[in-house]
Amino acid sequence: MKILDVENLTVKMMKEAEQILVDSVSFHIKKGECLGLIGASGSGKTMTVKGILDLLNPPFFVESKITLNNMSWESLKKSEKRKIMAKDIGIILQNPMNAFDPLMRIGKQMHHYLYPYTKLKGEEFTNWLISLLEEVHISHGEDVLKKYPHQLSGGMLQRVMIALSTALSPALIIADEPTTAIDSQTQREILKLLKSIKSKNESGILMVSHDIDAVCSIADRIILMDRGRIVEQSDCVDFLRDPKSIQGKNLMKCKSKLGGEIHAFGYTKCVG
Ligand SMILES: Nc1ncnc2c1ncn2[C@@H]1O[C@H](COP(=O)(O)OP(=O)(O)OP(=O)(O)O)[C@@H](O)[C@H]1O
Ligand SMILES: [Mg+2]
Repeated sequence: MKILDVENLTVKMMKEAEQILVDSVSFHIKKGECLGLIGASGSGKTMTVKGILDLLNPPFFVESKITLNNMSWESLKKSEKRKIMAKDIGIILQNPMNAFDPLMRIGKQMHHYLYPYTKLKGEEFTNWLISLLEEVHISHGEDVLKKYPHQLSGGMLQRVMIALSTALSPALIIADEPTTAIDSQTQREILKLLKSIKSKNESGILMVSHDIDAVCSIADRIILMDRGRIVEQSDCVDFLRDPKSIQGKNLMKCKSKLGGEIHAFGYTKCVG
């Protein structure tokens, strides 16, 4: 069953002249499947995500036909989309520090997002929050709930964000560069965590990254973007073995030149 079906997503920027940032992008994600979205910096990955989630305002304009969980997405009002996004789409972003209110304790922020969706009250609710933190390997959850975002490391905050965005078992998880802002040891742990969420939940995952190794460690298939267009769609194993597009071949060439992970700078420097 398809969780997300995107048909001809186009994102335009209308300033002095029209500029097409995402050009007729189509893909789908099935239940329990992880799709990796890769491409050089500026290729349109984040614009694709923002276009899907309807997070863009003028001068950006989006055209698309999107079906989410068998629902026609464009026929919904923005407010209806926000409600669905809060419950059915888990969103994990690159820089967790920006996603939290710096003046509010972690426990209060988790309460704010999750309380309306559960019947749990008082101590039961707090124990649930602690259990959510335990699932992302935060063992001293009671202390973490009392902390402010700046009192936690980037890796810890990223775990809290993953706990929050997966708490309500969303049908779809969208992770835009979830491991880019953290050190390589924590990166590995976060990837392991996402992998276990993938096998435990039936959620579909859209994982956006520059890092082909990180993506292929959890994705089943990948799509490769270049200048707003999809230039290759492939099974991960096939892509790593034998990429078909010029951009895919370049990416794999860079990977071997740079000896492993390709992040924005290395990839752009090598290809561009
Ligand atoms: N706020 C903005 N104003 C104008 N142009 C923008 C804006 N945000 C993105 N763009 C342009 O849209 C295109 C796609 O950008 P996008 O952020 O989707 O790239 P990306 O693939 O996510 O890159 P990165 O890997 O660096 O995150 C780029 O040409 C970029 O310059
Ligand atoms: Mg981006």
